[in-house]
Amino acid sequence: MTTIKYPKRIALAQTPTPLEFMPRLTEYFGGPKIYFKRDDLTGSTLSGNKVRKIEFSLAEALARKADVIITVGGIQSNHCRATALACARLGLGCHLILRGAGEGPPDGNLLLDYLAGASFSFFPREVYSTQRPKIVADLTEQYARQGKKAYYIPVGASNAVGSWGYVRAYSEIMSQAEKSGLKINHIVTATGSGGTNAGLIVGRALHGHKKPEVWGVNVCDDEETFIKDISVVLEEMKSKYGLRWKDSAAPIHTLDGYVGEGYAIPYPEVMDLIAWCGRNEGQIFDPVYTGKALYGLGQEIRKGRFTKRDTVVFIHTGGIYGLFPQRAEFRFPEGKGK
Ligand SMILES: Cc1ncc(COP(=O)(O)O)c(C=O)c1O
Repeated sequence: MTTIKYPKRIALAQTPTPLEFMPRLTEYFGGPKIYFKRDDLTGSTLSGNKVRKIEFSLAEALARKADVIITVGGIQSNHCRATALACARLGLGCHLILRGAGEGPPDGNLLLDYLAGASFSFFPREVYSTQRPKIVADLTEQYARQGKKAYYIPVGASNAVGSWGYVRAYSEIMSQAEKSGLKINHIVTATGSGGTNAGLIVGRALHGHKKPEVWGVNVCDDEETFIKDISVVLEEMKSKYGLRWKDSAAPIHTLDGYVGEGYAIPYPEVMDLIAWCGRNEGQIFDPVYTGKALYGLGQEIRKGRFTKRDTVVFIHTGGIYGLFPQRAEFRFPEGKGK
């Protein structure tokens, strides 16, 4: 296996995570063999894909002598929750700039943000979307006036440094496959801000592999947006770390069409699949990321993109705390989880 020179990392995630075969889901989808890469097991509260990314982001923050981490996301951001808890572990301050109103008793990820002792600024969608750079600059300045150095992690830690988390995960998956004699044809993941997908693509390019192909099921925006955003991260990684590969070695594949009415807006087919996976595989997905991505994978199998000859690794990127605020979306018959 190729040796990759990684930037500094702080170990926060429980890795390697298991790579597990899902026999009943394989049969249910009626196509390729489905394995889950259990990145929902990277920790209990520090769970999911984000912890792999912030292992690199926070190492850079500490190297730059930061006192406080500023990061951004939706009100139920898994990334913000993982960052807040990691900061508490490392004795760093954490300030979350959240899209939405923090009204009422906090639930899901937001409750954990509070328990992790984060500081908050809440902004309505419009302000958050259009004025984020100024909000971050003002807050950084505010901390500087208190004699504190702030380090900014962009949404989802999906930049050049954070994406190393999934370069490392790619190598981990491939060495697990090699040890067990598994030939993987495709890796599929949810795409929300693009860094997970970018890291996997870079991992594959650095190893010089032609297979597996890497696919992202977008849970917001569209294919065009992610081709652009992921290309930016790939270029940043090349220039910041002196990496090289041919463009043809790093194709960006987005499986578009499963967002529904919008980010974090669930639809019945996804909720039903989440409940099915709970009953039949003992695996819990969330309606915002992994549930929609897994539904997308199932639909793409039905359309014939992935066939019985293939082996697909679906990365279970976590997200369980985002499930609870959407509890009302499930349709259980009275007295039974059907
Ligand atoms: C549970 C979960 N899965 C998948 C993703 C998507 O990862 P990325 O933002 O790197 O595209 C996210 C975050 O956006 C997430 O919280």
